[in-house]
Amino acid sequence: MERIAVLTSGGDAPGMNAAIRAVVRTGHYHGLEVYGIISGYAGLIEGNMKRLSLRSVGDIIHRGGTVLYSARCDEFKTEAGRKNAVEQLKKNKIDGLVVIGGDGSFRGAKALTSLGFPTIGIPGTIDNDISGTDFTIGFDTAINTVIECIDRIRDTATSHERAYVIEVMGRNAGDIALWAGLADGAESILIPEAPFDLDEVIERVRFASERGKRHSIIVLAEGVGSGVEFGEKIKQALSVETRVTVLGHVQRGGSPTAFDRVLASRMGAKAVELLVKGEKDKMVAIRNNKVLGVNIDEAFANKHLPDLELYELAKILSI
Ligand code: F6P
Repeated sequence: MERIAVLTSGGDAPGMNAAIRAVVRTGHYHGLEVYGIISGYAGLIEGNMKRLSLRSVGDIIHRGGTVLYSARCDEFKTEAGRKNAVEQLKKNKIDGLVVIGGDGSFRGAKALTSLGFPTIGIPGTIDNDISGTDFTIGFDTAINTVIECIDRIRDTATSHERAYVIEVMGRNAGDIALWAGLADGAESILIPEAPFDLDEVIERVRFASERGKRHSIIVLAEGVGSGVEFGEKIKQALSVETRVTVLGHVQRGGSPTAFDRVLASRMGAKAVELLVKGEKDKMVAIRNNKVLGVNIDEAFANKHLPDLELYELAKILSI
């Protein structure tokens, strides 16, 4: 193996730059040339790539977003698009590829390996929704951003004696809502993976108000439904003034936390080590604080589930 490439794909996540840096520096450490592919699989199909020197990844470990840019690419989902991608890799004499991204990006990585091209996946998404790894790059930063926002909302909610529905990201996964809700003492946390009873949610707000609490926080994962519609239902059922905040893409930006920088550095280095060892069809995972290479099929074998013990704990602690 002499030349490898790295790309970021799907929704960006804080820490992706730290992972790119680790891939480039570890690659150089092993005597490899490293190329950066611009704008994910779309750039790969076009052959849009540049050589990354050791120094080219200086001063990025602390930055959010991705210096390689990202995209969601429909063409890459077609057989023709994937064949073009492999041709570009061969034309540019690339021997192995590291893909940093979420579930969809991993399916692309798997497809490339099936076409005979060694590809390793690094889980990078704020959603934490990849099976087989305890954490994905970007999740810790996202939940810290969310709790900072909720803390601010809590200040004004208390001043005005209001209930707030806060809609957070996560596509179909409840991890962001669950961790941020637990960390912020929310009255209710609504996630797609656990059934809930609207009457119980309303009762919790009423009970909080009766016992003199001046604010109520309900954290709703976007996968459950619209925060605005949910807020309307609460408004109609209660005498407590209610407001809704949809946090949106603010959750995807910002400087990565120390946890995400360290995780990304470890995962980036591991991905290169796997390629150097001749491994393929693998994803990098963290389990019980050990970073390892596991079969990429583990990402698809089971549906990711958040830690439902945390869900029960949050319920107990918020009474
Ligand atoms: O997968 C990351 C994520 O931010 C999800 O939480 C969210 O549902 C989705 O991406 C939003 O995608 P886009 O930025 O394309 O609107």
